[in-house]
Amino acid sequence: MFRFWQQNLLRISIDKVVMHPLFEKADECARQIKGHTCAVIISHIDADGLSSAGIMCKALERDGMEYETRFLKKLDLAALEDIANLNKMTIFTDLGSTMIDQINALGMDAIVADHHQPKKIPHKHHLNPHLFGIDGANELSGSGAAYLIARKMGPNRDLADLAIVGAVGDMQDRREGRLISMNRQILEEGIDVGVLSFEIDIRLFGRQTRPIYKLLEYCVDPYIPGITGDEEGCIKFLRNLGVRLKDEDWRRWIDLHKEEKQLIVSEMMQLCLTSGIPAHKVQHLVGEVYTLLKEEKGTELRDASEYSTLLNATARYDHADVGLAVCMGDRGLVYAHARSLLAQHRQNLMEGLKLVKEQGVIALQNLQYFHAGDSIRETIVGIVAGMSASMGEINRDLPIIAFADSEEGIKVSARGTQDLIQQGLNLAVALNESAKEVGGVGGGHDIAAGATIPRGCEEEFLSILDAKIGAQLKRR
Ligand code: C5P
Ligand code: C5P
Ligand code: ZN
Repeated sequence: MFRFWQQNLLRISIDKVVMHPLFEKADECARQIKGHTCAVIISHIDADGLSSAGIMCKALERDGMEYETRFLKKLDLAALEDIANLNKMTIFTDLGSTMIDQINALGMDAIVADHHQPKKIPHKHHLNPHLFGIDGANELSGSGAAYLIARKMGPNRDLADLAIVGAVGDMQDRREGRLISMNRQILEEGIDVGVLSFEIDIRLFGRQTRPIYKLLEYCVDPYIPGITGDEEGCIKFLRNLGVRLKDEDWRRWIDLHKEEKQLIVSEMMQLCLTSGIPAHKVQHLVGEVYTLLKEEKGTELRDASEYSTLLNATARYDHADVGLAVCMGDRGLVYAHARSLLAQHRQNLMEGLKLVKEQGVIALQNLQYFHAGDSIRETIVGIVAGMSASMGEINRDLPIIAFADSEEGIKVSARGTQDLIQQGLNLAVALNESAKEVGGVGGGHDIAAGATIPRGCEEEFLSILDAKIGAQLKRR
């Protein structure tokens, strides 16, 4: 009762009594948008970028405004100049914050709703949590920023479900095993309007759709010997517990009884502990999971994590239109197309992981890296790098840097850990500065960042980055 009262008081005090400056900024942006009849939406090609665009497009559609959308791998000057030439009010979502000076210089009528580490250059309609003391890596995603504006444009609180899909897609629930801060507030609004719910459950990908033994097999965080990557081991483990694998169809997590779920979780935890996995990592196995109540049970869209992977499977393969249509409500042919792209995406991720395993990584003093060349698509190499770290393929004491060929040069993706952040690591700063020194561009978040550098500069870039990361880690 006390907790309920406390949470509600907090909610009222943030939104109504003391107007948080972030909400004031959202209000300002919403008013600016509503002063126009048409808009261009520019967004990022990942789950968060698609959810952000979905929220904005819905809000504009409901307001009777016309809009067009463009999805970008990254926002560079050439892309920005093209957009400026359209001479239309432009809403940037999940990107834009690192290009504020250029947006100003081009005199664009622009709204920027982003959560990447920003340049602190004044711009009237720039909504970024970092500018308001809120951490954009864990507390508000790009789709959360878009949602804050949409809810000021009209009765759009039902779009909170997409905001949570974006936050989960950006792994903002990972550090604490739950959504916190501004994300939490959005979750609570979604619960209030009946589009979202949450529960404590096993935090494995595919609870809605995968046969249970497959669910366990792909457990990467933590990596459990005898379970992770071991289909036979998973089947044996479940049989030993007396859990039936099949009725007419393969049983999925959502088909199990509560007692069966509890038994599996407690036995997996026991297995982790006897395998020497530290207790704080074992805890990752269980946490909050988020359900989209308007979506059909047993579909990817019912679960925020599966939904976000489905979106990644579209835009990262030049099919942003497919992902956006799903966000806008298509559950017919386009949705079927998205599901077929998802199957291919999963296979590509597994092949990417296999490559890292076979090729191995090279360690420098303060980082480790692998070069995928053209074997892993540049748009998913960051996901593979992140998964390889969780899967125990690589040393968790160093950040992982991945290279892949791209049309513009070499794509760099970097992933760190919470422990390293605590020791002073900031990959966004390190990649931004190192890329600049070799004539490239980069940025992102402290824990996950990216860059594009000229081809052939990899070694020089690595040695600069190694020194910068070393200096960051020494400072604390
Ligand atoms: O561009 P955007 O901010 O949407 O992308 C964030 C990226 O950072 C995602 O690929 C996400 O998976 C990654 N990330 C991560 N671990 C975190 C936070 C973000 O790997 N704790
Ligand atoms: O591409 P990847 O998933 O590795 O990107 C990690 C994070 O770095 C994302 O948030 C992405 O938007 C950001 N990034 C960036 N500038 C780049 C490349 C990536 O800000 N040139
Ligand atoms: Zn994002």
